[in-house]
Amino acid sequence: MTKWRIVVFLVSLLPLAAMVWGALHDRLGANPAEALSHESGSWALRFLLITLSITPLRRLTGWRKAVLLRRMLGLFSFFYACLHFLVWLWLDREFAWGGMLADIATRPYITVGFLSFLILIALALTSNMFSMRRLGLRWKGLHRLVYAAALLAILHFIWLVKADLMQPLIYLGVFVVLMLLRLPRKAVMRKPRRMVKKQVVA
Ligand code: HEM
Repeated sequence: MTKWRIVVFLVSLLPLAAMVWGALHDRLGANPAEALSHESGSWALRFLLITLSITPLRRLTGWRKAVLLRRMLGLFSFFYACLHFLVWLWLDREFAWGGMLADIATRPYITVGFLSFLILIALALTSNMFSMRRLGLRWKGLHRLVYAAALLAILHFIWLVKADLMQPLIYLGVFVVLMLLRLPRKAVMRKPRRMVKKQVVA
């Protein structure tokens, strides 16, 4: 598994390498700030969806160790979200905190993006063993917010697009499929419990 972890870690750094290379070689197009914002935002969302695909992947393939990659992938989503936030704060808002707060309060697509980011911060901060032990059962409840983070990020994308909705709708489609893939097992698990109850009553 260590080998897989190293491979996934290095591959996950490739989008960052491409952004740095593009910036250093002046290959980010006419509006480098916008290009960096689009790339970092897209990768934050992609890593979030890849993280959500680990459980269905494990169920479909039986590859149990895939779960060991989930935390790292989630942290990469957080990493690219931080980059995305920093690009906006620095290149777009030029660290004008007043303007930033006004944007968060008045522009709905920024509001939902920010909410998604806050959730990612909470999940990243509690993704260690210490928090797991301390929070106990509440940890699972907190980490279920990852679905809300993904949905808010997709809503953020849908809201900011003016014309062609195709890309954000593809992300929404992937999210819905990933959610549906989680359903059958729950249904299967519930069935025997009901049967057991009926038998007891009878
Ligand atoms: C801290 C809060 C956030 C702010 C202020 C923010 C801001 C922005 C801005 C200004 C854009 C570009 C709009 C444009 O040029 O038309 C953008 C695009 C985007 N953001 Fe965010 N964002 C935030 C959080 C997030 C998070 C947490 C995610 C994903 C997990 C995300 C994913 C995206 C995506 C996918 C795009 C579209 C990229 C594209 O056009 O290809 N954003 N965001």
